[in-house]
Amino acid sequence: DWSMHAYREQAIARIREQVGDAGVICGLSGGVDSAVAALLIHEAIGDQLTCVFVDTGLLRYGEAKEVVELFRGHFNIPLVHVEAGSLFLEKLADVTDPERKRKIIGATFIDVFEAEARKLPNIRFLAQGTLYPDVIESVSFKGPSVTIKSHHNVGGLPERMALGLVEPLRELFKDEVRELGRELGLPEPFVQRHPFPGPGLAVRIPGAVTAERVATLQQADRIFLEEIRVSGLYDRIWQAFAVLLPVKTVGVMGDARTYEDVCALRAVTSVDGMTADFFPFEPAFLGRVANRIVNEVKGINRVVYDYTSKPPGTIEWE
Ligand code: XMP
Repeated sequence: DWSMHAYREQAIARIREQVGDAGVICGLSGGVDSAVAALLIHEAIGDQLTCVFVDTGLLRYGEAKEVVELFRGHFNIPLVHVEAGSLFLEKLADVTDPERKRKIIGATFIDVFEAEARKLPNIRFLAQGTLYPDVIESVSFKGPSVTIKSHHNVGGLPERMALGLVEPLRELFKDEVRELGRELGLPEPFVQRHPFPGPGLAVRIPGAVTAERVATLQQADRIFLEEIRVSGLYDRIWQAFAVLLPVKTVGVMGDARTYEDVCALRAVTSVDGMTADFFPFEPAFLGRVANRIVNEVKGINRVVYDYTSKPPGTIEWE
């Protein structure tokens, strides 16, 4: 794509001019935007860039490992991987209110990120994958207390550490960022990745979040997405995920009675996340997924599908 090639060259020149020989820190979230921002900046200034991946332990199954392998292994970009899963779980212990979960995760994220940033010498800039829609604030999340991308905006850090901001995607829309990602060699599955909320699986586990529940949900979610990919449906869906409900129901396995959790499946089509329609899977597809989840995931004995569109429902359950 010609225009993206030109954009890339221009953006690289601008980044070089802005940062000179200073160090830049970039937080990776596992999503497309921060990945593309990091790749672009790395092309511009090489190892003056350090990426920090705060691993909340609340990502999808296998995705943390993928991020580390892609950046460190494939792209050879310096990456600090902070495994903070147990810290996040400690902070979330017994918390059930969705807004409190978001606030705690946001605050913990900032603390961890800032501590890492302070260990690095010569950092003068913070890089962010801010897009044009973020700039014009056309998207708003759950309520006034939750600002856009609250989780990935390391609120207050630039001021506290006197850092300049590098935001090379500020003029781009999502589809353009994907195009730029391809141009920069980001693998296709990463480019096409569904959006994922900053608070991660914590808001897909109504009630208290525990290590065990996160692991159970990751398995159910992995199976759902595997089947979606195999059926060639992934790119027709805006977001698809499993939710682990705090409800136990009775089932039967062999000749024994079971009493285990319910898992809800959610998949929607959407253009911008503001409105959404439930995805009309074939019944046989849902049957196959339900069967696999109940048979393969310990702790789940029932699966239901969410037929609610947005509005009046939201995409996430919390
Ligand atoms: P809802 O559930 O409000 O979600 O229909 C709309 C879109 O926003 C995502 N979402 C979030 N993203 N932090 C984020 O970074 C959040 O707290 C958050 N809550 C919802 C959701 O996944 C969907 O794409």
